[in-house]
Amino acid sequence: MKFIILTLFPEAFESYLNVSLLKRALAKKFIKIELKNLRDFGVGAHKVVDLRPYGGGAGMVLRVDIIDRALRAIKAKQKGKKSKVILLTPQGKVFNQKLAKQLSKVDTLILVCGRYEGFDERIRDLVDYEISIGDYVLTGGEIPALAVLDTVARLVPGVVGKAESLVSESFSESAGRRILEYPQYTRPENYKGKRVPKVLLTGNHAKINEWRQKEALKRTKKRRPDLLRGLR
Ligand code: ADE
Repeated sequence: MKFIILTLFPEAFESYLNVSLLKRALAKKFIKIELKNLRDFGVGAHKVVDLRPYGGGAGMVLRVDIIDRALRAIKAKQKGKKSKVILLTPQGKVFNQKLAKQLSKVDTLILVCGRYEGFDERIRDLVDYEISIGDYVLTGGEIPALAVLDTVARLVPGVVGKAESLVSESFSESAGRRILEYPQYTRPENYKGKRVPKVLLTGNHAKINEWRQKEALKRTKKRRPDLLRGLR
């Protein structure tokens, strides 16, 4: 799967992509990432990408013609590939695991990083989805784009080593429900008087699974009852 990121700050992505599971996924070619500098599509000697808003007001607004040109150039190279364009904005649909799963089915995901000052409203007509990573405002779409990329990439076959670690994790569907993951422990068995639950030391996998399911449900009820009510 390929991710193309359209941003004014391509270098902001490099440090994270050079570590972690993503580095391995790139090296093994499970995923490809192209960083496109929006400035390259700017106009004039100064490669202008934004202007003052009509009607006045603070800040600069990203131009629709620049984004249109950039997206056309990018899409022209995706011949025959199933691609989707995503705009990162706090006004978008709130991102979750279910949406990540849907997005992991496409060949190419094109992530357009907005800026905090704003973008021309007509840019919305150029994209397939508008995504927010939560009800708070960041200075730009770069961190949200990285969050979406990271979440979707780890659903691509091969990226996460053990297939089963995707099955039981938080928010993945379990019997049609999305619940939180059960608690995990490793050594030491007794840490300052806090002991690992005995059942995990028995080696009885049927019992362990039963305990994990019960604990997962218990903590979901306590921490995220909204998930069980099917509100999200
Ligand atoms: N840009 C600024 N804040 C954002 C958010 N919460 N989600 C997506 N894009 C953003």
